[in-house]
Amino acid sequence: LVQAAIGKAVALAPDQWIPGGVPDPLIRHQHGVIGQPVSRIDGPLKVSGKAPFAAEFPVEAMVYGALVHSRIARGRISRLDTAAAEAAPGVVAVMTHRNAPRLRPPPVFLSAPKAAGGDTLPVMQDDRIAWNGEPVALVLAESQEQADHAAMLVEVDYAAEPALTDFAEAKARGARPAEFMGGPLHDARGDAEQALAAAEVRVDQRYTTPRHNHNAIELHGVTCYWEGDTLRLHDASQLVAHTAWSLAHMFGIDERQVIVTSPFVGGGFGGKCLWQHQILAAAGARLSGRPVRLVLSREAVYRIVGGRAPTEQRVALGADRSGRLTALIHEGVTPKSRANAMPEPFILPTRSAYAAETVKLAVETVELDVLSNTFMRAPGESVGTFALESAMDELAHALAMDPVALRLRNEPERDPLSNLPFSARHLDQAWRAGAERFGWSARDPRPGARREGEWLIGLGCATATYPYYRMPGGAARITLTAAGEAVVAIAAHEMGMGTATAHSQVTAERLGLPMAAIRFDYGDSTLPGVVLAGGSQQTAAIGASIIAAHRALVKALLALAGNDSPLAGLSVDEVASREAGLCALDDPGRHESYASILARARRESISVEAEPPMPLETQHWSMHSHGAMFCEVAVNAVTGEPRVRRFLGSFDCGRILNPKTAASQFRGGIIMGIGLALMEETQLDPRTGRIANPSLSDYHIPAHLDVPEIDVIWTDIPDPHTPMGARGIGEIGITGTGAAIANAIFNATGKRVRDLPITLDRLL
Ligand code: MOS
Repeated sequence: LVQAAIGKAVALAPDQWIPGGVPDPLIRHQHGVIGQPVSRIDGPLKVSGKAPFAAEFPVEAMVYGALVHSRIARGRISRLDTAAAEAAPGVVAVMTHRNAPRLRPPPVFLSAPKAAGGDTLPVMQDDRIAWNGEPVALVLAESQEQADHAAMLVEVDYAAEPALTDFAEAKARGARPAEFMGGPLHDARGDAEQALAAAEVRVDQRYTTPRHNHNAIELHGVTCYWEGDTLRLHDASQLVAHTAWSLAHMFGIDERQVIVTSPFVGGGFGGKCLWQHQILAAAGARLSGRPVRLVLSREAVYRIVGGRAPTEQRVALGADRSGRLTALIHEGVTPKSRANAMPEPFILPTRSAYAAETVKLAVETVELDVLSNTFMRAPGESVGTFALESAMDELAHALAMDPVALRLRNEPERDPLSNLPFSARHLDQAWRAGAERFGWSARDPRPGARREGEWLIGLGCATATYPYYRMPGGAARITLTAAGEAVVAIAAHEMGMGTATAHSQVTAERLGLPMAAIRFDYGDSTLPGVVLAGGSQQTAAIGASIIAAHRALVKALLALAGNDSPLAGLSVDEVASREAGLCALDDPGRHESYASILARARRESISVEAEPPMPLETQHWSMHSHGAMFCEVAVNAVTGEPRVRRFLGSFDCGRILNPKTAASQFRGGIIMGIGLALMEETQLDPRTGRIANPSLSDYHIPAHLDVPEIDVIWTDIPDPHTPMGARGIGEIGITGTGAAIANAIFNATGKRVRDLPITLDRLL
């Protein structure tokens, strides 16, 4: 959708630009580095405790912060007494709306190219309260314990106003059509309701998914200080350049006066963006004149970092007796806060899923007085595929048809709504390979037919899908030294997924250098580039920037090489990087090493910076990753306890750059999907709008014993229209997983649970 907006501004023919228009030549000129299962280059640093996280940077004379959270959902602060807190041992300052530096409201994500905010609410600027949990005071003290203690001494009274925090009540008052990223969240082809009514076989069901909260292992945290009018901030971030720009905007200073670093992040998943803690820490540092460290408690993460909104979805499918879809309806309601722009877009996966004759997609939204929700791994797809793929299983059962066969029967030739060709869609291969490896043919379609002692055993499957995105990532810089080393610099992020490793591989391969000769610099807003680690698109964005910088480097080297070089007379399109130098594409013998080129030119190093063309590939192709998910569950017939016994993800995500890190990404997504299916649920007290289970003891996620051996395979077919032939893999693992588990539970028990999470009480 972002790209659609960009595409409106520029219209180019598909063959006029690279990457995307023509296949990246490197897809066919591999040097053997891409595709290798290289271990994480940051692994030794992490396991030896040497990787510095945001809350670990040592700073002189630092103070520690603790937040006080509002206890009402809507209204005003009527009395605020900070005297006892200020008098407590070690307290340096208590910041409230009365003494906080004046700030502009945060720029909400996508409202400007580098906007990073979760919502537009003013941050501690007035006595208004917009959600239960909003920070009303920041206590700064010499130790964390002193700050935590003093935070309990801040006295706050409220004048509460009527608040709407109950999703059911809000729905009853009426919903309105949702917008997402500036576009409508509805689409149609033909008259789907009429086709449904006329269908030979139909299912028409409601599915619900609950509120979810972010629970990255690393708590949100920040260490920051001012040097004059320059703010230095060590953050746990998915978007350092965006955060720097947004903080500068709020504090009314130049973008270059905010320096954000984030070398390591202990998990992001969409939650490590700009929330109030970074803003409050920077404001507190300005107020107190001291460096500030603010690490959110796990409870505070629930109170001030948005998660996934609940959904209520209807999926209705009409088909003829052969299983051909004649109607596909996916619609429903989701709440959001008044101050953000993020309705959970659960229809996204349905747009290009099946070749249905008629389609109707619509999301409606209601507004609540709650913490703003946000992106959470595969926003839209993760819960949307639960409903869609559960319904497909219900249809297969109604047709007495194999669920894999039903999906293959409805594979589209072109994108059903946009009518664009697919850039590369080999989902059928993923289904066949997965079914074979999983032993799908052994499944008994009769629910409840397989029993081992007190355990009922079932198999289920579902389609996984996530779009290919590529946002404009800005420039990358490559510096090549006479000693034969290359440093790539771009303001990108390593949240644990292997970015630094994969892009060291990409650079090694492009430049024809060994891995050991590459350094990848990232996680610093002063580096070139405007990369977002989100939307499963960081790899494509960085790759495109590296490709552009490499091309600029080759040009610059050819100019340096001059007429005495064996490369004389060759243009940038006629050379390749091989064996630590350049050679003619069609004659590898015409070769000169980088060292030789630089030595003849009397240069110690050469540095180039270049930006790729606008990402327009999705204007010309429908681009999506896919997967076929297979699951075996055991459900205890006595207690109702569901256990996932086996899982296989068979993916079609383009070229896999590093099979080791990719397998971990897929597995991590599937594990999060197990939590989505069976455990995760934020309990929001509808009377107060307060989250009642803000801790990992009450909000359940899968532990090791809940996770079986997870098998992952992939087609590894390059997508000719993406940089490096790769599509994103960060989010797809959580998609389809919920439905595969629910469908396996139906096969095991005959019980169709349409409300997540599928806890044991729903199976008794
Ligand atoms: Mo992802 S929800 O775009 O970090």
